[in-house]
Amino acid sequence: MKDAEQKHLWWQEGVIYQIYPRSYQDSNGDGVGDLQGIIQRLDHIKSLGIKAIWISPIFSSPMADFGYDISDYCDIHPLFGTMDDFDELLQAVHERDMKLILDLVPNHTSDEHPWFKESRSSKDNPKRNWYIWQDANADGSEPNNWLSVFGGSAWEWDEKTGQYYYHAFLKEQPDLNWRNPEVQEAMLNVMRFWLDKGVDGFRVDVMWHMIKDDQLRDNPVNPNYKAHQATYEKLIPAYSTDQPEVHDIVHKMRRVLDSYDERMMIGEIYLPIHKLMTYYGTDKNGAHLPFNFLLLSIDWDATEISSNINQYEGALPDGGWPNWVLGNHDQPRITSRVGKAQARVAAMLLLTLRGTPTIYYGDEIGMRDVPIPPDEIQDPQGLNMPGLNLSRDPQRTPMQWDNSENAGFTQSKPWLRLPEDYRRVNVKAQLEDEFSIYALYKRLIKLRQDEPALHIGSYRPVVATGPLLAYLRYTGEQRFLILLNLSHKPCHFAPEHFSFEGTIVIDTLPEREGGKVRKHVSLSGDEGMIIRLNTA
Ligand code: NOJ
Repeated sequence: MKDAEQKHLWWQEGVIYQIYPRSYQDSNGDGVGDLQGIIQRLDHIKSLGIKAIWISPIFSSPMADFGYDISDYCDIHPLFGTMDDFDELLQAVHERDMKLILDLVPNHTSDEHPWFKESRSSKDNPKRNWYIWQDANADGSEPNNWLSVFGGSAWEWDEKTGQYYYHAFLKEQPDLNWRNPEVQEAMLNVMRFWLDKGVDGFRVDVMWHMIKDDQLRDNPVNPNYKAHQATYEKLIPAYSTDQPEVHDIVHKMRRVLDSYDERMMIGEIYLPIHKLMTYYGTDKNGAHLPFNFLLLSIDWDATEISSNINQYEGALPDGGWPNWVLGNHDQPRITSRVGKAQARVAAMLLLTLRGTPTIYYGDEIGMRDVPIPPDEIQDPQGLNMPGLNLSRDPQRTPMQWDNSENAGFTQSKPWLRLPEDYRRVNVKAQLEDEFSIYALYKRLIKLRQDEPALHIGSYRPVVATGPLLAYLRYTGEQRFLILLNLSHKPCHFAPEHFSFEGTIVIDTLPEREGGKVRKHVSLSGDEGMIIRLNTA
């Protein structure tokens, strides 16, 4: 069956928008964003054309990892508001015909979670086996060589009970033991709690970490490790991540979702394509969307991107729905990676590829990573490995709404500083500028949503040379040719075995829109265009 003939669901047709809640909008003057702030800004999100909002964690947490260390999965952190605020937000999102996706962090809790407090209280506590406890080796050393993503050993010694516990991230984030059925049931109940409230889905944190080798074998050394990399990269996490049994867990989560109406699950998974695909599950019983981070990791090069798109498309299981991402709260922003001019081309790429796009807040106005002086760094990843430039603060700075004091984000001092140029680079200024990147995003999303060829149509690569990336999106009736110049220099598209004729509908140089093209076309540096091809 052709793509366009199948029934498509909201998470396939629509665009997802990620909010880092600390940085979206502060409503109570404490310098940190909150739920009421998000409610105030829902109309911005709606008018951009977004279908679903994913909010990074908003739950009770000591904030050692800014909310990814949860001490109560079913309550809201007072910094963000109350459960009433949450209910109001959910209702306000639904009233605007949008969906709400929460961040589920099942791999680890906070060390202040009552489950861990019990677990560490004594070796015979009923919750001891809810976490991963191990004896020391005879010489007192760690049970194996596993490393923490945030630096140092992944094992923390517990003086009181005389054992080590495992933490893939901070020592304040002990990993749950997902081999324990009680843990599984507890976390599935967390899902049910939010689904019963009407939440539309989850983005599942570090899905590929959830089960570890049952024999806890040593990870092999990474022969390609380079000194500028995080210390975690010294080993290949062959035994601490991506174990076959993880798929049973994902399947159990999926079953919970499937017992409700049209709910969905996105898995955060940093793995090569062939491994990523396994997270769709056999017979599509896994994640609806295993996050595809290809565009975050490969070089900004047409041949490289084109071949990765083709590999990804080719590897998708039957009925597996693709998705694309340009940024998130863990990665440098797209504008900082490829520059201002290419960020527009990147937007066109994201919004014309086949599959669900996720936009990171602020990318729609071309926000850049903000330089954070060393004495202001707050991210534990940056603090634990100083000198490696690994802090994620630069991509988590407050949303730049307008040119007023603190960019309209807060009435007081923002928790992270704003860039010097926020008075120029902000939503309000771009709303008034029809050539802004915001205007481009908005038009791209609208075209995508209006045209089945773009939101559910098929994808076919077109051979192009040099810096040009070219592909078709089509249904039975409509065909679009997308041409993206990934370089700053002009280039020419004159395919030998492909004849085309059509009208430019969106161009990063809007002056060209409406222009007719036939057989060949020249592009300026940093230009991208969407051509509606004439029907035969
Ligand atoms: C992935 C999250 O995206 C990241 O921000 C967090 O630090 C780790 N998981 C640990 O939860």
